[in-house]
Amino acid sequence: MITIRDEIAADIPARETLLDICLGERRTAKSSERLREGRLPAEGLALIAERDGKLAATVRLWPVEANGVKALLLGPLAVSPELQGEGLGKAMMREAIWRAACHGHGAIILVGDAPYYSRFGFSTEPTRSLAMPGPVERERFLALELRDGALDGAKGVLVAAGRADATAPAAASLRRAA
Ligand SMILES: CC(C)(COP(=O)(O)OP(=O)(O)OC[C@H]1O[C@@H](n2cnc3c(N)ncnc32)[C@H](O)[C@@H]1OP(=O)(O)O)[C@@H](O)C(=O)NCCC(=O)NCCS
Repeated sequence: MITIRDEIAADIPARETLLDICLGERRTAKSSERLREGRLPAEGLALIAERDGKLAATVRLWPVEANGVKALLLGPLAVSPELQGEGLGKAMMREAIWRAACHGHGAIILVGDAPYYSRFGFSTEPTRSLAMPGPVERERFLALELRDGALDGAKGVLVAAGRADATAPAAASLRRAA
């Protein structure tokens, strides 16, 4: 049986391994990472899926803003290779979107494959006036408004808006040493 629940500190080593397997070690070079490094995910919006006590999927959402307009950045989303194609990614996305709306957030932004994320309502239209803090392929720069007009006035480069992660410097130097 698969359970989706809040991520806890003890999940982090298995989550890192899953992300290395699914996205490769170069994942930290992505523009999205510039909006995540040194920050904590949004409250109640770091989720994992667990099957038989083993981590099966992960997704996190991060506070960001542009021109004073607040939103969430979703990512990374990853599903364990042996479970891919069985609907777990969709279940993680539905749970993430539902929880984001319940927490009162107005919009979710992400960089990812439009053919996958369009099924949840994500499109390039709401990101037309936005930029990432680094290179991004426009056709992969997507957003979903949870509230009509939530991204009105959002323009320019997205900046991180989450709480600082007190453990981040140690993690960064570990990465450099690796
Ligand atoms: C992308 C990922 C999260 C999808 O999760 P999943 O559990 O395998 O997908 P689901 O079973 O929920 O959904 C399967 C559907 O999504 C489609 N799909 C999966 N990956 C896709 C992609 N990259 N682009 C377009 N469609 C995709 C499948 O064709 C299938 O379509 P169908 O419902 O019409 O049959 C997962 O494959 C994964 O972890 N991949 C590696 C990491 C990654 O690429 N993460 C996304 C970063 S943007």
